[in-house]
Amino acid sequence: MSVAMSVELSPKGKERVKELLTHYPNKQAALIPALWIAQEEWGWVSAEGMESIAKLLELPVSHVQGVASFYTMCNKKPVGKYHIQVCWNISCSLRGASSIVDCVSKKLGIRMGETTPDKKFTLSGVECLASCGTAPAMQINDTYYENLTEEKIHQILDKLT
Ligand code: FES
Repeated sequence: MSVAMSVELSPKGKERVKELLTHYPNKQAALIPALWIAQEEWGWVSAEGMESIAKLLELPVSHVQGVASFYTMCNKKPVGKYHIQVCWNISCSLRGASSIVDCVSKKLGIRMGETTPDKKFTLSGVECLASCGTAPAMQINDTYYENLTEEKIHQILDKLT
């Protein structure tokens, strides 16, 4: 049985957003960190979630949708327990990002944008992770992995499976 996602932040989440607003000149400026709070709570931000955040910040829904869709870091669909984000920008591409993607893809049996059937892993491509000097790089949830090789991918994923 699937559980419907709440489209309201929890009282604690709302409290965090309220506190956040004290650090910004206006509600619009606090939108991205508010989306982060929502994503931490829900794991992703649905269209209904965006509406809820828009209501909370008294912003047009279209503005929230525009900001959320621009940032790849904002998950617009559910992701697995481990969200593997492989950088595919220039430095990483030049240093073999595509073979890293292929390796992850083959090992987990998923393609870019997909989640494993057990909901454990999601594979995404992302823009520069600001780790160009140690390319190719990827991020799994909040952890960075750099100077990647296929061997390292196997070691990293074996620890998570
Ligand atoms: S291009 Fe991949 S970290 Fe910058």
